[in-house]
Amino acid sequence: MELYKPAEDRYEKMQYRRCGKSGIKLPMISLGLWHNFGDEADFDNAAEILRTAFDHGITHFDLANNYGPPYGTAEKNFGKIFERDFKAYRDELIISTKAGWDMWPGPYGNFGSRKYLVASLDQSLQRMGLDYVDIFYHHRPDPETPLEETMGALDQIVRQGKALYVGISQYSAEETEKAAAILKELRTPFLIHQPRYNMMDRWVENGLLNSLQKTGLGSIAFSPLEQGILTNKYLNGIPEDSRAAKKGTYLDKNKVTPEVVKKIKALHEIARERNQSLAQMAVAWLLKDERVTSVLVGVSKSTQLLDNIQALKNTGFSKEELKKIDDILGY
Ligand SMILES: NC(=O)c1ccc[n+]([C@@H]2O[C@H](COP(=O)([O-])OP(=O)(O)OC[C@H]3O[C@@H](n4cnc5c(N)ncnc54)[C@H](OP(=O)(O)O)[C@@H]3O)[C@@H](O)[C@H]2O)c1
Repeated sequence: MELYKPAEDRYEKMQYRRCGKSGIKLPMISLGLWHNFGDEADFDNAAEILRTAFDHGITHFDLANNYGPPYGTAEKNFGKIFERDFKAYRDELIISTKAGWDMWPGPYGNFGSRKYLVASLDQSLQRMGLDYVDIFYHHRPDPETPLEETMGALDQIVRQGKALYVGISQYSAEETEKAAAILKELRTPFLIHQPRYNMMDRWVENGLLNSLQKTGLGSIAFSPLEQGILTNKYLNGIPEDSRAAKKGTYLDKNKVTPEVVKKIKALHEIARERNQSLAQMAVAWLLKDERVTSVLVGVSKSTQLLDNIQALKNTGFSKEELKKIDDILGY
């Protein structure tokens, strides 16, 4: 690939929101590297996606220890691309990683012990070739490890200079408030919650968003397109190169039922009336709420990212539109 020189007007192409009560602003659309960056993916395509993102003011790239497949390879490949294309722009980037799901065999490669979290971040930094990450997350709640230990590990990691801020993912409202209280006492820079949130999956509306506001945390919504279901991709069958058709993904093609297709066709019609693609409407729908700092999309091609970014042109919804969407989805 030719030498990369980022677009000079990149910051004019994106809008930024303050992350809770912090000094950090995040792009309203961020890029996740869960799929399409591992060793089974095309390396040049991955680099092209990252370049397109940064060229459009997307300053936040989200990773985790186990992104791939195989586990770890998204971080490794990101590290290679970072070294070549983005090293000179390190201070313009917010790079995050996580630990909390299964990563290596035995009792110390999973969940929420201090032992696991500290070792995992060391491995992640090595794979990415970074001295520090901007945000380190505990990836999911651990029902067995005392919350004080997990939060203590996050605090330790910041004190070690290996992360600037910390976050949590998929914690309930109650768990989040407990975590916030512990981290407040430790004076740890607790920045953000990363929940699953989209038009079809609204669990955060039952308390979590209020808790985030109360505790001054920002949020970044993952799987905003329900892994591709909330796009025009599955309107007429399951394309061969789609996530639902690929083996080893977390989107089972049996999820694309005739009832689901009926719903997405109806949503597609509303999007069309708004002069948006369904993906754009799904992103905009999340951003209508200021408590959502950023929408964390995944893409398999840079053209999908360009499509999603256009969502920012219209993030307002009339009451009628919202009601129609709720009626279609049974809310
Ligand atoms: N904290 C957690 O536990 C957790 C869990 C999951 C994800 N995440 C984070 O959230 C990020 C996003 O998750 P996700 O990949 O599930 O998000 P998503 O945005 O809901 O789905 C991404 C998929 O949708 C399709 N797509 C995207 N834009 C499209 C467009 N404009 N038109 C048509 N299809 C489009 C692509 O599918 P095809 O591949 O079929 O083209 C793409 O791979 C991850 O990368 C990761 O950083 C976090």
